[in-house]
Amino acid sequence: MIKLLLLLLLLTTTTTTTTTTTTLAKQPYSLVQSQKPAPKPHHEKLTHLRVFLHHIVSGRCPNSVQVAQAASTNTSSSFFGQVNVIDNALTEGPAMASKLVGRAQGLYALASQEGVGLLMAMNFAFMDGKYNGSTITVLGRNMVSTPVREMPVIGGSGLFRLARGYVQAKTYSSDMKTTNAVVEYNCFVLHY
Ligand SMILES: *[C@@H]1O[C@H](CO)[C@@H](O)[C@H](O)[C@H]1NC(C)=O
Ligand SMILES: *[C@@H]1O[C@H](CO)[C@@H](O)[C@H](O)[C@H]1NC(C)=O
Repeated sequence: MIKLLLLLLLLTTTTTTTTTTTTLAKQPYSLVQSQKPAPKPHHEKLTHLRVFLHHIVSGRCPNSVQVAQAASTNTSSSFFGQVNVIDNALTEGPAMASKLVGRAQGLYALASQEGVGLLMAMNFAFMDGKYNGSTITVLGRNMVSTPVREMPVIGGSGLFRLARGYVQAKTYSSDMKTTNAVVEYNCFVLHY
């Protein structure tokens, strides 16, 4: 009797497994979970963060390196075609010795033939306090001679998951000769 029951149980299990496999095999991909309705807008919060970005091209430890340039770059005062990769320190205050709160990692391309205009594509990777490990992604146009440059925040991770918003960049200090600069970034981020 027990043997029969066991056999029955085994048979049932096998049948179930087979059915599942067949169903999965029929689909081009598997649906893990159906979508929940999006969180209500009032659950969204606005976070304002202010950081100072240190752009260092020259000296002992540059954190911005040129990786490409146009063949005819010296005919253009806008450096059109140049590409730099950056790993700029983000600090709490304008001094380099001020507390490190994250890094701006990514790249920028000199994308304007008139005036120095950058296409910026970078992640602000936060490394301090509650935002440690979270990132926001900034992608936008940066005309460096404009007093305040606004660029979109197009996404984020961690606490900034599903983020959108904008940053405003304002040069705090710069060295014309080396192009080293400290830039104040005010980040306005909507996230859940
Ligand atoms: C770069 O500029 C110099 C001086 O203006 C000029 O003599 C030279 O031909 C230019 N080189 C290129 C590749 O355009
Ligand atoms: C940030 O997180 C990393 C990884 O979890 C940890 O090693 C580091 O100590 C944290 N830094 C601060 C300042 O909390």
